[in-house]
Amino acid sequence: MKNFKVFITHDLISSGIELLKSNNITINKWPGPYPISKSNLISGAAGHDGILCSVADNIDDQIIDSLPSLNIISNNAVGFDNIDITHAKSRNIFVSNTPNTLSQSVAELTITLLLCYSKNILKFNNWLRDGQWKTWEPTLFLGNELFGKTIGIIGMGEIGKRVASICYSFGMRVMYHSRSDIQDIDVKYQTCNSNLSYVLQSSDFISVHLDLNQNTKNFFNYKEFIMMKDSAVFINTSRGPIHSENDLIKALNNKLISGAVLDVTNPEPIKQDSPLLNMGNVLITPHIGSATVEARNKMALTASWNIIDASRGIDPRNSLY
Ligand code: GLV
Repeated sequence: MKNFKVFITHDLISSGIELLKSNNITINKWPGPYPISKSNLISGAAGHDGILCSVADNIDDQIIDSLPSLNIISNNAVGFDNIDITHAKSRNIFVSNTPNTLSQSVAELTITLLLCYSKNILKFNNWLRDGQWKTWEPTLFLGNELFGKTIGIIGMGEIGKRVASICYSFGMRVMYHSRSDIQDIDVKYQTCNSNLSYVLQSSDFISVHLDLNQNTKNFFNYKEFIMMKDSAVFINTSRGPIHSENDLIKALNNKLISGAVLDVTNPEPIKQDSPLLNMGNVLITPHIGSATVEARNKMALTASWNIIDASRGIDPRNSLY
């Protein structure tokens, strides 16, 4: 059997490396610095059968055209908006992702951020480290309970459903908007599929769980922020380009909403001069939804199995077409 060579663009967790090695895949891994530049990716992956890449790599038509030996692009991610799939398909190159690997991690991060925001955890932590803890403070940084509040979930896929279930267990009222008519959703949640504005107008928290595609890019603009309660918090742990960052900044400056919680920004990494970084009512983490040992292991193994399938001449189990 032909020796199958894969170029890995990032620091893949060791379980993935071991699996590839034990299946006789030859590995060349970019040693850093990360992210790999386009020219280093093209020269590094030359002559390889597969690329194992991440959300930080933009695999465009130029990269695809520069690598004639390519058989598979295995994305170590669930989302695949970083890959020009149409172009890959036109060249008969498989593209695969890692479904069912990170929903719980992203849902738990969403809830973590929701709780941290609502209880002012970062403010208290910074205040304490700053040496300010002199007594029990009766009125400092008072947060809010989640119990009895309404969360509006935009996008009711696997992650949205898990967030809904945890929020419901906290005594929150859950409503959702989903473009597809999903059957297996708990009847305890209020469906507003045909009425996005009602969800926006009624929710104390809006949590976005959409895939990024042509229909969802800039889904949240100024006009959506206007509809939200001025006490509401906007949460996005899906993809940055789903909200217009300029409109979000304007909405916060104009007090259309009371705060934002973001695990994703537009662009990524966030620019160091972004006004969001100076706002005390904005909590930001660096795209860490899947950053748990459990999720990253599942992702690495799934991405590696897709490579192994291709090396055996069969369709990768998570081929996207
Ligand atoms: C992470 O954002 C992913 O899509 O895997």
